[in-house]
Amino acid sequence: MISPSAEQRRSSGYAGYTRTGNRTPELVEEGRKLARRALNDWGLAADAETAALVMSELAANAVRHARGPKINMTVHRPQTGLVSVSVIDRSPEAPPQPGTPGTDAESGRGLLLVAAVSLRWGWEHMGTGKQPWGKRVWAELEVTTRDAGPPTVGQ
Ligand SMILES: Nc1ncnc2c1ncn2[C@@H]1O[C@H](COP(=O)(O)OP(=O)(O)O)[C@@H](O)[C@H]1O
Ligand SMILES: [Mg+2]
Repeated sequence: MISPSAEQRRSSGYAGYTRTGNRTPELVEEGRKLARRALNDWGLAADAETAALVMSELAANAVRHARGPKINMTVHRPQTGLVSVSVIDRSPEAPPQPGTPGTDAESGRGLLLVAAVSLRWGWEHMGTGKQPWGKRVWAELEVTTRDAGPPTVGQ
C-alpha cells in the first residue's frame, strides 16, 4: 500500500510517499506508480512522468546492481518547487557511477539521464560508523507549480 509518511509531513508540510518491497524487477513499476501518485496528489501532473522516469532508473539500478532482499523507494517534497526521489538499497560497497558517453551503447546511461533531468543527484551511506548497512541514491527535481498562492479576497 502507498501511504504518506507522517515523519515527512512534519518536516516539510507535504506528506511524503514511501514504499518498501522485494528487490525484484516488478518493483520498478511500483516505483513509477508511486512517483505518479505523489506528483498528481500534489498538483504537479506536468512533472509526474519525469519523476516516474527518475524513480524508474534509480529503482532499476537497485534491482540490478545492489543486493539484499528489499529496497525502499520514497518521493517527497522538501519545498514547494522541489521534489526528491530516492531509493535505499542494502549494498554499501558499490557507489553509483555514471558512465562515460560513448563507452557503451547499451548501458551506463541511466544516471546520465537522471543527472540531465534533475537539479542535482547523489548518494550517501545508510547507518553510522565503520559499517554502513546500505546506501540511498537520490535526485532532486525542480517542479513547476500552478499554485499562485492564496486567492485574493474581496475581488
Ligand atoms: N544502486 C546501485 N548499487 C550499486 N551500483 C550502482 C547502483 N546504481 C548504479 N550503480 C553503478 O553505476 C553504474 C551506472 O549506472 P547507470 O548509469 O544506471 O547504468 P546501467 O544501470 O545501465 O549500468 C552501474 O553500472 C553500476 O555499476
Ligand atoms: Mg541503470
